[in-house]
Amino acid sequence: MLPCLLVFSALGLGALGISSRNETQTKEISEKLQYLFGNVSQLIEKGKLDVSTMASRKEWGAEAVGCRTQLTMPVDFLVIHHIPGLECHNQTICSQKLQELHMHHIHNNNWCDVAYNFLVGDDGRVYEGVGWKIQGCHTQGYSNISLGFAFFGTKEGHSPSPAALSAMEGLIYYAVQKGHLSPRYFQPFLVKGKNCLVPPQKIGPKKACPSIVTRTDWEARESHCPKMNLPAKYVIIIHTSGKTCSVSDECHPLVRDIQSFFMDRLDACDIGHNFLVGQDGAIYEGTGWNAQGSHTAGYNDIALGIAFIGTFTGTPPNAVALEATQSLIQCALDQGYLTPNYLLVGQSDVENTLSPGKALYNIISTWPHFKH
Ligand SMILES: *[C@@H]1O[C@H](CO)[C@@H](O)[C@H](O)[C@H]1NC(C)=O
Ligand SMILES: *[C@@H]1O[C@H](CO)[C@@H](O)[C@H](O)[C@H]1NC(C)=O
Ligand SMILES: *[C@@H]1O[C@H](CO)[C@@H](O)[C@H](O)[C@H]1NC(C)=O
Ligand SMILES: *[C@@H]1O[C@H](CO)[C@@H](O)[C@H](O)[C@H]1NC(C)=O
Repeated sequence: MLPCLLVFSALGLGALGISSRNETQTKEISEKLQYLFGNVSQLIEKGKLDVSTMASRKEWGAEAVGCRTQLTMPVDFLVIHHIPGLECHNQTICSQKLQELHMHHIHNNNWCDVAYNFLVGDDGRVYEGVGWKIQGCHTQGYSNISLGFAFFGTKEGHSPSPAALSAMEGLIYYAVQKGHLSPRYFQPFLVKGKNCLVPPQKIGPKKACPSIVTRTDWEARESHCPKMNLPAKYVIIIHTSGKTCSVSDECHPLVRDIQSFFMDRLDACDIGHNFLVGQDGAIYEGTGWNAQGSHTAGYNDIALGIAFIGTFTGTPPNAVALEATQSLIQCALDQGYLTPNYLLVGQSDVENTLSPGKALYNIISTWPHFKH
């Protein structure tokens, strides 16, 4: 008889949220699920994967697999994860969540693709991750000798849906039948999924701080604002909700206009944000690291306000602007301007406003440390 164990993956979007769960709790849940699974040998006998319901990468919205390292088949190990915070009950939502997870693993974790070989939704569908023949990046020390399957989000105290459990059984059965998984496979006992410390392909060197267009560069007016209370505890993402700019010749005067608006119309001590990001991919120094902005009442002394220049309700900022912002946040962390357990929020999470716009909000909600 084989033990059937689940690993509570720390690779999900909700990884931050579950760090509060202690190991005892994790073990308890693991045991409950183990009970639900019953006996793997029985599962294998009755399980059948309905391949017609499997959602291919193309179907959930991904392109060719970004990883190349092959798995030698059949593998002897199976690791089953679940990803808290990724609940979904139909194909539309599961696909959307998987796209977010995919982007998260690539952009935030610098991996070559989504971390798992396959995923199973509460809709009872199997979603293709990196597939059968390619190594995932799900379990340190095991990724090159195992298949990693994951349940989309299971809330604490809840098991995956009967449809999901049955799909997982089918998937395991299929893996054995097709010779991807050894019939005498083993599930290593692991309480918690561990991140790949060295991703197999793209080794992500710590990026340097992005270059910042200084106040002198954009010809800021002089100003005197109160000091920040560093390290900041929050990053607040904002949009300026006005014109945007995509070359520095447009951005410089626009940033000056925004400063004048804040100082002359709103009677603020300076431009409202600590930093601004243009569609030219440049970061413009606002009040900077050390002085308070005036973006969000009650938060200005403890939050870095980062504003995307423009309106991002329907269309999100472009990739260079998003990337620049993420490296600015990483830089703040590296330089100690941000506390390591900082929270990232949209301005609309803490104030009654449409900022940072729905399209941008959807993106930042996949970023590390995001807290709704
Ligand atoms: C873990 O959580 C459980 C339930 O909340 C609690 O009873 C237990 O004392 C905790 N254990 C540790 C080591 O914090
Ligand atoms: C597992 O399955 C085998 C074979 O069907 C059976 O003999 C055994 O009692 C089962 N064990 C459990 C815990 O269900
Ligand atoms: C999928 O679920 C979401 C919410 O859980 C719902 O709003 C949406 O209408 C559902 N879509 C389909 C196609 O059933
Ligand atoms: C898997 O990777 C480990 C190092 O992480 C290595 O020692 C081991 O030989 C590899 N196994 C296979 C089958 O490639």
